[in-house]
Amino acid sequence: MPVRSALESLTLPPTKFLTSSWPWRSLVYLGSGGLFGMIVGAALLGLLAFGAIFTLVAVGIAGFLAFALSGIAVARVERWRLRLVDRVDLPDAHRPVEQPGLVAWVTTRLREQVTWRELGYTIVTCAILAWIDALVVAFALWAVTALLCGPLYIDDSPLSLTLFGSVAGLVLGIVMLYPMTAWAGARAAITRAILAPRADDDPQLVELTRSRARLVDAFEVERRRIERDLHDGAQQRLVALSMQLGLARLELPDDSPAADSVRRAHDLAKEALAELRELIRGVHPKILTDRGLAAAVSEVADRAPLTVDCDIALPARLPQAVEVTAYFVVVEALANVAKHSGAGRARVVASVAFDRLTVQVRDDGRGGADPRRGTGLAGLVDRVAAVGGTVALASPHGGPTVVHVELPCGS
Ligand SMILES: Nc1ncnc2c1ncn2[C@@H]1O[C@H](COP(=O)(O)OP(=O)(O)O)[C@@H](O)[C@H]1O
Ligand SMILES: [Mg+2]
Repeated sequence: MPVRSALESLTLPPTKFLTSSWPWRSLVYLGSGGLFGMIVGAALLGLLAFGAIFTLVAVGIAGFLAFALSGIAVARVERWRLRLVDRVDLPDAHRPVEQPGLVAWVTTRLREQVTWRELGYTIVTCAILAWIDALVVAFALWAVTALLCGPLYIDDSPLSLTLFGSVAGLVLGIVMLYPMTAWAGARAAITRAILAPRADDDPQLVELTRSRARLVDAFEVERRRIERDLHDGAQQRLVALSMQLGLARLELPDDSPAADSVRRAHDLAKEALAELRELIRGVHPKILTDRGLAAAVSEVADRAPLTVDCDIALPARLPQAVEVTAYFVVVEALANVAKHSGAGRARVVASVAFDRLTVQVRDDGRGGADPRRGTGLAGLVDRVAAVGGTVALASPHGGPTVVHVELPCGS
C-alpha cells in the first residue's frame, strides 16, 4: 500500500521508513513551520499595534481589517506547505467572488465562515503550533550535535569518549526522527481538520438538504431494481434467443436460402446482448459489487481515452452505498476530464482515514469547471449529499481542476 502521508509512514518497517523521504520532509515541514509562524506572529502583532495606535483615524481600521483577513494568506501558504507531508491536496474552501474590485472581495470574504476559521488557525499557529515545531526541531538538532560534538570540547577527551559520543549521537539522531515525523503528521492533521472545506462553506456546491437526499436515495433503489430486472429478465431472454439462433444455424445446411437470414439474426442478437450488457454496466457495474471500488475504478481508468494514474489504497471493502457513490464520482469526473479539460493525463487518489473515504480526481487541463453549466457536477453533488458526504471543486481558469469528495464510511 503506497504511503500517502507522514503519519502513515510511521507504520513502515524501520529500514523503509529511514530510507524514505518522509523524515526529511517532516524536518523541512516543521522547520519552515516554526520560522513562518514566528514571522507571521510578529507581523500580526505589528498590524494590531498599528490598528490600536491609529484607531481614531480611519487608517486604523485598515490595520484591523488586514489582521482579520490575514488568515486567508496564511492558510494558502499552509495548504501549499502541507504537500510536504501529505500527498492528498487540501482544496481552497473559499467561494469565487462574483463582482470585481477590492470592496466586493473584502465583504465576501468577511461574510464567509471559513475566513474566521482560517484566522483562528493562524492565531493558534502563531501562538502555539509554530513554537512546538521550532522546539521539536531545535531539540532534535541540539541533542544530536551536542552528543556528536561534545567530546571535541572536552580537553584531552579519550578516544573511547569521542567514539561513544558519535555512536550515541547517531543513534539518537535516528530515534529522534520518529517523534519528529509523528508531530509533523499530527500538525498536518490539525491543519487539515481546520482548513478542509465544510458543507456550509459553499452552499452553491454542497446543498445538503434533506428532501434531496431522500430523493436520491429513492432513485438509487430504483436503479438497483432496473439493473436486476434487466439482468435477470431481458438479458437472460436475449441469451436464450441467441443460443436458439446459433443452434438453428448449425442445423440448417449452408446452402439453404434461410441460412443467411438466420446468420444475420444471430449476429443482431449478439450485438443487442453486448449493448444491453454495456447499458447494465452504466446502471450499476457488476465489477463494483464483485471486486470492490479499487478494481472498478481501475477499469474505468483503463477505458478512459487518456492516461489516468490511479493511487487507490483501501483497507477493506466499504459500505455498498459509499462504493457506488465514489464509483460514480470517478466516472463523472473522468468523463469531464475527457470531454472538457483538454488534459492529457489525470490522476485519481483515494484513501480512507478516520472513517472517511477521500476521493480526489485531478487534471492539469484548462480549468473553469462550473456546475451551473451542466448537469453532471450538480448530480454528483446530489449523490454525495445523499450519503452524507461533501464535494469541493477547485477549477480556476487555466487549471488545474480538482474534484475532492469526502464520504463518511464508518459502520
Ligand atoms: N475537468 C474539467 N475541466 C474543464 N472544464 C470542466 C471540467 N469539468 C467540467 N467542466 C466544465 O463545467 C461544465 C459543467 O460540467 P458538468 O456539470 O459535468 O456538465 P456536462 O454535462 O457538460 O459534463 C462543463 O460543461 C464544462 O464546461
Ligand atoms: Mg459532465
